[in-house]
Amino acid sequence: MTRIYLPQDMAALALGADRVLCALQAEASRRGMDLDVVRTGTRGAVWLEPLLEVETPEGRIGYGPVQPGDVPGLLDVLANGGAHALRIGRPEDHPWFANQTRHTFARCGIVDPLSIADYRTHGGYAGLARALELGAEAIVDEVKVSGLRGRGGAGFPTGIKWNTVRLAPSDQKYVACNADEGDSGTFADRMLMEGDPLCLIEGMTIAGLAVGATKGFVHTRSEYPHAIRTMWAAIEAARAAGLLGPDILGSGTAFDMEVRVGAGAYICGEETSMLESLEGRRGTVRAKPPLPAIEGLFGRPTAVNNVMSLASVPGILAHGGAAYAAMGVGRSLGTLPVQLAGNVARGGLIEVPFGITLRSLINEWGGGTRSGRPFRAVQAGGPLGAYFPEALLDTPMDYEAFTKVGGLIGHGGIVVFDDTVDLAKQARFAFEFCAAESCGKCTPCRIGAVRGMEVIDRILAGTEPAKNFEVLDDLLEVMTDASLCAMGGLTPVPVNSALTHFPEDFHKSGRLPMAAE
Ligand SMILES: Cc1cc2nc3c(=O)[nH]c(=O)nc-3n(C[C@H](O)[C@H](O)[C@H](O)COP(=O)(O)O)c2cc1C
Ligand code: SF4
Repeated sequence: MTRIYLPQDMAALALGADRVLCALQAEASRRGMDLDVVRTGTRGAVWLEPLLEVETPEGRIGYGPVQPGDVPGLLDVLANGGAHALRIGRPEDHPWFANQTRHTFARCGIVDPLSIADYRTHGGYAGLARALELGAEAIVDEVKVSGLRGRGGAGFPTGIKWNTVRLAPSDQKYVACNADEGDSGTFADRMLMEGDPLCLIEGMTIAGLAVGATKGFVHTRSEYPHAIRTMWAAIEAARAAGLLGPDILGSGTAFDMEVRVGAGAYICGEETSMLESLEGRRGTVRAKPPLPAIEGLFGRPTAVNNVMSLASVPGILAHGGAAYAAMGVGRSLGTLPVQLAGNVARGGLIEVPFGITLRSLINEWGGGTRSGRPFRAVQAGGPLGAYFPEALLDTPMDYEAFTKVGGLIGHGGIVVFDDTVDLAKQARFAFEFCAAESCGKCTPCRIGAVRGMEVIDRILAGTEPAKNFEVLDDLLEVMTDASLCAMGGLTPVPVNSALTHFPEDFHKSGRLPMAAE
């Protein structure tokens, strides 16, 4: 019997993993070969998907990217992990994987996502066991020591947030996992939920113990059907094993959870909108205060955290907060799952300590542009993030370093553009996106986004550029200062960065006033 591992991650499926499986089964049965196929998540190298692995005495040997037509040739050599043009050797020895520091994604692409036994064999539930020994206050202290900051965008220290919820008096508290993942070029939450859902379940259970919550919700989007299915199946498996429910691991402590699906609006990722959506209403932003930590879901204290934040916690508890804090730079500690997307040769997810530069991410990991044309810009941190030019590529992935150059790390998404990009059009797109996704609650964003498109259109048409540039400046200031949430408040970031770093795109056909004008 030959054991084969084949991802059923959404990206791998989109690239033909199921077609490869059909071809494998048909060809194997024709040859009378017995295959034992384990469906895993992805290891994150989307550029190698479908990445097929075979178990051999030397460990797993990978072949990718495999297409159905490659199957007959592969089956000639597969059983022994033999030579083939697509052979990459043992994935863990391949530089793209070997040079990563896998903390949150340590198991993703390796384990059967729904096997509790596999999860435990690879270190799972060691964190929860330690958390049960420590108790609430000491769990929070451990997370504080780790320096973990929220991976949803704002980078707020997770331990401090948890302590606020822990100390808030209430007969019912909640953990609300933000799996809305609307940022352009991001897919880390989805990959984790599809490839290692038990890690998120364990992280949420530990969060529940820390803050005193007995119930958790994962809020995700309808565009993630595989993640939704996998999460539900993993929840059922954890319940059956006594890892969720009224008496976790015989501790007498209760924690259970469910998955809720939102309407797929970008604003449903903003935490208070997400709470509205979880309560069954349209996703509109709530004014703060009160903070969700004090008055959140159904008016009760709620720890709202991103998937990555929660999934980092089991490892932190298992290996200690200090070990996590030993990685990274400055106040950006631990590892960051970076998502390389856009016009990049080797797209996918890599997990590395904070401090790595954009240049290294794009050139060394990403292999430069996919088109082979010269690099021109990178947008980091999603649709509300800045466009950086070549001159800023030595900026390290560090929350404070990014703030200094007018950018944000957000959810760790990096979208690369070659020299065919028009940054004036991208600036217009920032307003267009905001107009489409605005919840409509406040005027600077609801009206400002539409006025922004109009004023950029006038600039691009060369109509009174000096006057319109002044209007644009005023508008950006109002949106930054007066929007109720970061949707309107940060839309000026991509626009300003385009104006600052790529002014020549606004000068075409005399669009913007030159310095002398
Ligand atoms: C417009 C907007 C969209 C957001 N989308 C997401 C999202 O998709 N996922 C997420 O975790 N946080 C998102 N956030 C940030 C959340 O409001 C919140 O800060 C985060 O969920 C808190 O979790 P963390 O502390 O673990 O990062 C968004 C914020 C804004 C303003
Ligand atoms: S900034 Fe936009 S998304 Fe945020 S509250 Fe105002 S209208 Fe809603």
